[in-house]
Amino acid sequence: MKAINQYFTLSNGVKLPKIGLGTWQVKDGDEAYHSVLMALKNGYRHIDTAEGYQNEASVGRAIKDSGIPREEIFVTSKLESHIKSYEGALKAFEQTLKALDFEYLDLFLIHAPWPWSEIGKDCKAGNVEAFKAMESLYKAGKIRAIGVSNFSPDDLDNILNHCEIVPHVNQIAYFIGLDQKATIEYCRKHNIVVEAYSPLGIGYLLKNEDIIKTAEKYQVSPAQICIRYCLQKDTAPLPKSTHEARIIMNKEVDFEIKPEDMAFLDQIKGDPRRWN
Ligand code: A2P
Repeated sequence: MKAINQYFTLSNGVKLPKIGLGTWQVKDGDEAYHSVLMALKNGYRHIDTAEGYQNEASVGRAIKDSGIPREEIFVTSKLESHIKSYEGALKAFEQTLKALDFEYLDLFLIHAPWPWSEIGKDCKAGNVEAFKAMESLYKAGKIRAIGVSNFSPDDLDNILNHCEIVPHVNQIAYFIGLDQKATIEYCRKHNIVVEAYSPLGIGYLLKNEDIIKTAEKYQVSPAQICIRYCLQKDTAPLPKSTHEARIIMNKEVDFEIKPEDMAFLDQIKGDPRRWN
């Protein structure tokens, strides 16, 4: 089966397509609308957005206009990182549903263990509150799966120790060179599916000489090597693109990187991402 049609089965039985379209930094309006529409037209059935991306309305509109039945598309959104209360999470979820114009959501994640403006802040109590609100929405049938994003093993321990449901998903930055071994091992042990955001290192990884060399060997593009690498590490990559040719390229990953080449890629170390 082609990679674009493969899925992970979450611990509650829900199927999560392995490749999703990322929409971080995709502008609301035409850009988000057309990216999502192009992805769906080309076989993607998994779209990742967030309240914080401010493009939920365009994402929802594209999904409606695609003509594909809603239940055939897996849609994720995320609770804004500064919302760390039970009531706040319930309210924010209603806003997300309204913006998307949906009756239900497939996956809702706590976007980060701390507000983006206060990285590292101890929000353990607030994360438990927010997750408990998500549990209640899950039980009410408003969300098919619940999870977290950017959570370390310590952040996950906090949820496992104080909440009822083990998160179904942890979405983390993951790409060639970024060491996420401890988090991935923790997730495997607790049957939490790992989603890989920024699988191309927001594009910077594509200039890596060793990745370019590997791509030439397989006669594919560096982007395809990066995405295939995430799949072979049993994570669900969420590449972002606003260009149709790239959206198509990013799902054409039906080749196998040999173990010796995976080992070669494993030796690449570091985070090439730069923010202007
Ligand atoms: P664009 O949206 O203009 O196509 P990541 O998914 O790691 O966050 O990376 C996203 C970045 O990589 C974006 O700048 C995107 O640009 C670019 N990108 C996505 N797919 C490809 C591709 N197949 N080839 C080259 N650049 C790509």
